[in-house]
Amino acid sequence: MKILTELRARFREVLANYDSDVEPLLDMIRPSQDARFGDYQANMAMPLGKKLSRQPREIASEIMSSVSLDDLCSQIEVAGPGFVNLTISDQWLTDQINELSNSTEIQIDSVDEPRTFVTDYSSPNVAKPMHVGHIRSTVIGDSLSRVLSFAGHNVIRDNHLGDWGTQFGMIIYGYKHFVDEGAFKEEPVKELSRLYRLVNQIIAYWNARNGLDDAQATIDQKITALEAARGAAEAVDPGDKKAAKNLKRAESQLSVATASLGSLTSTIESTEGDEVLGPVLASHEQIGTAVLTETAKLHDGDVENVALWEGFLPHCRADIQKIYDRLDIQFDVEYGESFYHDRLGPVVSDLESKGLARESEGAVCVFLDEFETPMIVRKRDGAFLYATTDLATIQYRQETWSPDAMLYVVDHRQGEHFQKLFAAAAIWQAPETELQHISFGTVLGEDGRPFKTRSGDAVGLEGLLDEAVARALDVVTANDESKPNGAELTKDERNHIADCIGHGAIKYADLSHNRTSDYVFSYEKMMALEGNTAAYMQYSYARIQSIFRRGEIDIDGLRASFSSIALDEPAERALALTILQFSEAIAQVIEDYRPNYLTNYLFDLAKRFSSFFEKCHVLRAESETIMQSRLLLCDVTARVIGTGLDLLGIRVVDKM
Ligand code: ARG
Repeated sequence: MKILTELRARFREVLANYDSDVEPLLDMIRPSQDARFGDYQANMAMPLGKKLSRQPREIASEIMSSVSLDDLCSQIEVAGPGFVNLTISDQWLTDQINELSNSTEIQIDSVDEPRTFVTDYSSPNVAKPMHVGHIRSTVIGDSLSRVLSFAGHNVIRDNHLGDWGTQFGMIIYGYKHFVDEGAFKEEPVKELSRLYRLVNQIIAYWNARNGLDDAQATIDQKITALEAARGAAEAVDPGDKKAAKNLKRAESQLSVATASLGSLTSTIESTEGDEVLGPVLASHEQIGTAVLTETAKLHDGDVENVALWEGFLPHCRADIQKIYDRLDIQFDVEYGESFYHDRLGPVVSDLESKGLARESEGAVCVFLDEFETPMIVRKRDGAFLYATTDLATIQYRQETWSPDAMLYVVDHRQGEHFQKLFAAAAIWQAPETELQHISFGTVLGEDGRPFKTRSGDAVGLEGLLDEAVARALDVVTANDESKPNGAELTKDERNHIADCIGHGAIKYADLSHNRTSDYVFSYEKMMALEGNTAAYMQYSYARIQSIFRRGEIDIDGLRASFSSIALDEPAERALALTILQFSEAIAQVIEDYRPNYLTNYLFDLAKRFSSFFEKCHVLRAESETIMQSRLLLCDVTARVIGTGLDLLGIRVVDKM
């Protein structure tokens, strides 16, 4: 399975006569977007023409007379000003598709130079329930890890758990003051989340109370500014655009300030009115600093706090594991933030001794040329930060695995953190390592705003998965009941299929969107049996298996026999060509770290299969030989779909 790599290999030597840097030229050999221009196009004559001040068309003809493609291409055409259209020979395609069909597993040629990747993904802050935002990091990181190792790279999957942050100070504080022992024994994680929320609300209350004066002062200031702007507007002629604009701006600033005071007051009123919170507020005025103190005590090894933390952690971790089991997510290592605690002091000293960090207003900072604000690695009170831990993590990974690349699958809001981190790492520990923030956008509700529950909380992951499976069961049931010869599936089968479809739908919906954009979460869309959805791919796979069942075909036996695939019909040829382009889709995913290239490819493949199936009879083929050829083509299609879905972490089913 190597059309494009083979083409590029043939061109390489010839192109070296034109430019010492052949890679960009080879890059211009690409699959055609339109079948009228052959299967592939080679457009390097254009830039070469410019560079060498010659006619591109002439260069194209010259190149094509030297590149040896006789066995590989049946047609080579120099078109227009110097485009080269290449049609792959049917014989070559037939040989390749048979080779793939005969192999026991769908594999691609391993990369020439395997690299070592650390993939840092999922990495939730434990002790807070996982929510819809975590799905993206988990699913994208999992898929990229699968694809990289499929291509022959060495991958270390690391779950950088947030197991050491302020949220533990909050829970410890909550536990010490508000725990319901019985509830904790019964359902520890539920009780811990309750405590977390409770403490959060009390903190928010006191922040609001303490912010009232400032909010009022801002309003006063904005009123003065508005009066001034009004005066200025009255002093000039009424058509003066600038004055009118200033007035508008002053008005809108005043309304923003009023709204923010309003939101403080409403937080205060609702918290005071709350049955549970109201009575305890007064005795927890210092909660903000108290929580920080609890966190600091934990970090300093305070016996009581460490014991509490050790008691909480396994429960929190087990809760997360439920999600990982459902989504089939694995890691090679799981070094959470706490793992690096002892390394933080030495990291700061090392940075200082190398002259990379220095004290500024009591804090220790790394000053980076490209950024206005420095990266703080130790606060004035001695506390270390998220960034310090990330630096220690890079150092540890370098020492342990000397990876070629580290990929951080984290949402886009942490963009600046990673820019600074990478800049600091480049001058400190890892100048040679590729450090990438695999950024992604927000999951939106159908109203276009961040996906929330009706009560305004982030949507819990567990409930989300349950709902997807329940809806998938409806789809499976309806589909089964509408079969022409009546329903075929047992209850267990339906449940199993719904499980694969429901979880697959959630993953696919996420992976099929360009990761950097936001996407709208819609159960209806993701469950559709038609379109770019997991269900459609799973359906195509199941449809092929049902052909084998209906014809009582022993497909493994057929594969092992002397039968082979012939590509006589255009639809057969088009399908085979797409199948053989699987490796190109994988290469694209790796180039940009974007799984949506793979979903696009699978969608394309499923559509090609569908047109093949419309045009070519399989079980009712004209002859036994043609039937066998088409069955094998169906089989290799299904195996590529199955392998592709597996790389997205999605399971297939034999029946739907
Ligand atoms: N725990 C962090 C969060 O939930 C994400 C950690 C990402 N990985 C890292 N090495 N910083 O925001």
